[in-house]
Amino acid sequence: MIFAYLIGQGKSGKGQSMKVNEIVSHRIVMSEDLNHHKTLYAGRAAEWFVETGLMAAAQHLPAENIVCVKIHEMTFKRPVLPGEIIRLCSKIVFAGRTSVVANIDISVDGEQMVNGFITFVNVDEEGRAFPHGVTIEAISEEDILLQEEARKLYESN
Ligand SMILES: CC(C)(COP(=O)(O)OP(=O)(O)OC[C@H]1O[C@@H](n2cnc3c(N)ncnc32)[C@H](O)[C@@H]1OP(=O)(O)O)[C@@H](O)C(=O)NCCC(=O)NCCS
Repeated sequence: MIFAYLIGQGKSGKGQSMKVNEIVSHRIVMSEDLNHHKTLYAGRAAEWFVETGLMAAAQHLPAENIVCVKIHEMTFKRPVLPGEIIRLCSKIVFAGRTSVVANIDISVDGEQMVNGFITFVNVDEEGRAFPHGVTIEAISEEDILLQEEARKLYESN
């Protein structure tokens, strides 16, 4: 079950300078999401992690052009129990030439469960990396710090 809404600017034209834009969704953990310990299965959480990052990328790039090239980190800080409602928040915090870097934060009742980054690449019809022309403007202190972290990940490739 997924509920999504946008905070900040709405979707605007491609190939522009855009402010960091959060996209937030929620899921309730159901029996089919559990592992053999009866807690949220890491594979399911990873699926939701990538999906929410993809939704952030799709605020800036045509969805059909986006591929995931790297999940930089996923650390599970505590087990998530059935019936708990998890909040997934993602935003593109850095843009390279053909790539963008999303920060993804998963929390339950304000407690952080997972935080990490994913790099997505804008590709053409043949699946080749293609310049997107997007630049990302970080304004808040939090977003400036996330942008610096994402830039380091980008530069370490
Ligand atoms: C994504 C893909 C097109 C990149 O191809 P490539 O030959 O590495 O292309 P480039 O060398 O031109 O790199 C393109 C961008 O990807 C980034 N990139 C490449 N490898 C990366 C890695 N391992 N980690 C992070 N970023 C990476 C580069 O930094 C570059 O970014 P920039 O243009 O913003 O500077 C190719 O690796 C691919 O098709 N991978 C499979 C994608 C996929 O199937 N994903 C799962 C389904 S969504």
